[in-house]
Amino acid sequence: MGKLKFGLIGCGRIAQRHAEHISNVGELKAVCDIDLRKAQLLGEKYKANIYSDIDELLEHEKDIDVISICTPNGLHAEHTIKSLKAGFHVLCEKPMAISVLDAGKMIDAAEKANKRLFIVKQNRFNPPVAAVKNLIDNNKLGRIYSVHLSCFWNRNFEYYTNSDWKGTKELDGGTLFTQFSHFIDLLFYLIGDVQEVYSFNENFTHKDIIEFEDTGVAILKFYNGALGTVNYTVNSYKKNMEGSITIFGEKGTVKIGGQYLNELEYQNIEGVKIEGLPEGNPPNNYGQYVGSMSNHSEVYKNVVNVLENGGIIATNGFEGLKTVEIIDKIYRSAAKLNGKS
Ligand SMILES: NC(=O)c1ccc[n+]([C@@H]2O[C@H](COP(=O)([O-])OP(=O)(O)OC[C@H]3O[C@@H](n4cnc5c(N)ncnc54)[C@H](O)[C@@H]3O)[C@@H](O)[C@H]2O)c1
Repeated sequence: MGKLKFGLIGCGRIAQRHAEHISNVGELKAVCDIDLRKAQLLGEKYKANIYSDIDELLEHEKDIDVISICTPNGLHAEHTIKSLKAGFHVLCEKPMAISVLDAGKMIDAAEKANKRLFIVKQNRFNPPVAAVKNLIDNNKLGRIYSVHLSCFWNRNFEYYTNSDWKGTKELDGGTLFTQFSHFIDLLFYLIGDVQEVYSFNENFTHKDIIEFEDTGVAILKFYNGALGTVNYTVNSYKKNMEGSITIFGEKGTVKIGGQYLNELEYQNIEGVKIEGLPEGNPPNNYGQYVGSMSNHSEVYKNVVNVLENGGIIATNGFEGLKTVEIIDKIYRSAAKLNGKS
């Protein structure tokens, strides 16, 4: 098989990284953005065909294997379903969707088209995350008693006012979707599915800036009996402080921390010591703010491995749906409890 050919929908910030990694593993054949200038800038750099309308790209570019979706959250479902129906495999940025219904429709569309659906969850490849997943899969922590997630980041007013979709209910969906869906994904990935949630949230400092909360707390009960807490905010004073997950198991305690789940901060495990973890990649740096670890290279390696060597999808549509469901449960509980005095 020759090099895989890719199309890219949405040519904003994260698309630059996608284009770079696509060019390392395959060929970027076509790009599309409703802002033609952005499509031109990226298309010219990679010698790709340029479109401002997804329907035209899907109609004319029959040679493509995979469409990468890098548009705002609220458009992922529409763009993914169109691409699958047109006969392409899809790699969709996180969050998979901002409604459970939409995520279900995306899985259905992939099944009906008999095409593969990949969701970008690059933090799963962070060296400490991979090491802890390996421990849990091999029962080295024993029964998991509880898990505690801390997401303490800073997103200033300019972060939202410089974007026409971030902070909107319709296209962003909520702080858990844009900022912290990677972290929620790790709760599912490492611990399991969530049965019940109680949650409060509040918009403390972004009242006229965003249409949803900037801070929230949640308590969780998992189907396997584990208990959990989620503490998240974009009000960490002036800068990102921490993104961490602490797990208390029968045979060990571990904390993955740093700002982006990129350091193994604490370990005390029966008969095991995690050592010699590779450095990992630096986080995505967008100038005025810093995002998650930049492991998109691993995401693209996985796409190639699945489509060319029969490998297993690193994060499939079903797993993407689970993140959306857990976030949906947190928001539903907060909507119910917020009004109660
Ligand atoms: N995996 C990660 O760590 C990570 C990091 C950043 C962003 N993201 C995700 O990537 C997506 C894009 O985020 P971003 O920061 O690059 O946003 P962005 O605003 O910089 O880029 C989005 C682009 O989509 C274009 N667009 C909007 N509607 C379109 C349409 N109908 N057809 C074609 N193009 C359209 C916009 O013009 C814009 O250029 C979001 O879903 C975000 O959550 C993921």
